[in-house]
Amino acid sequence: MQYSSMTRRGFLTTAAAAFGSAAIGAAPPVTTPLGVPLRQEPLAFDFEELEPFMKASTLRRHYYGHHAAYVKELETALQAEAMTVGNVVSLMPGMERMIQPQRSDSRMPLGRLVSQGLSFQAPQPLSKETTQTIRRAGGGHINHTAFWRFLCPPDSGPSGPQGRAARAIQEDFGSVKAFRQVFKEVAMAQQGSGWAWLVYRPDGCLVCSTTANEDNPLMKDHIPWHQAGKPLLSLDLWEHSYCEQYQADREQYIDAWWKVVNWEFVNRAYSIVTGKA
Ligand SMILES: [Fe+2]
Repeated sequence: MQYSSMTRRGFLTTAAAAFGSAAIGAAPPVTTPLGVPLRQEPLAFDFEELEPFMKASTLRRHYYGHHAAYVKELETALQAEAMTVGNVVSLMPGMERMIQPQRSDSRMPLGRLVSQGLSFQAPQPLSKETTQTIRRAGGGHINHTAFWRFLCPPDSGPSGPQGRAARAIQEDFGSVKAFRQVFKEVAMAQQGSGWAWLVYRPDGCLVCSTTANEDNPLMKDHIPWHQAGKPLLSLDLWEHSYCEQYQADREQYIDAWWKVVNWEFVNRAYSIVTGKA
């Protein structure tokens, strides 16, 4: 697999600009490092490079199997609704939103149709089935994209947070060591499939949290309010991500995962979410 600068530039899920520019019905390009396009990104590492902490065969199945299936499922659901979405993140905050009237009933631009009272087609709410698919498959695509972006080969970058991100972690958790402990405890406490997160909340506070299944901190209408925010780090807690290598020993998996966390990207994500990138 070829190296790519794409994932290095990567993520962040959530700047207001990304939300604001990606309305349903339009197809704005993802023009900034923010957001998640409707496709799988190439990885910035070879699967074998995360050995021995993450087994290459697990990663390969995870990427080409589980993650790819979510992307396909989401694509199919959006096509059925005639929706084009440049940034999948834009779907997260309000999944039950309305679809704007289709333009196919006239050659006239929609704005003129509506302004002149010539369009009487009411906006349509998304179906319950589509909303559920966006939550599961859209969440799954975003979560896995984040998961890959926050990984790197061992000893290929800093061994912990640096700069402003490190100071924020120290301020909100007491120390980086304490943060790691809290993150691990929270991840261990998650019952069943889900994800562990470091979240930058709207009030600027950093919190560790978990979400069930493929939910994530962007789904503010579906998770506890105090856990909503912008992801700065994510860990897949589904068994498919670790059981081949670690069986049911989630703690061993977490301890190994710390060795391949892309702290450079965490630092960059913190700069982006705080608007100081
Ligand atoms: Fe997964």
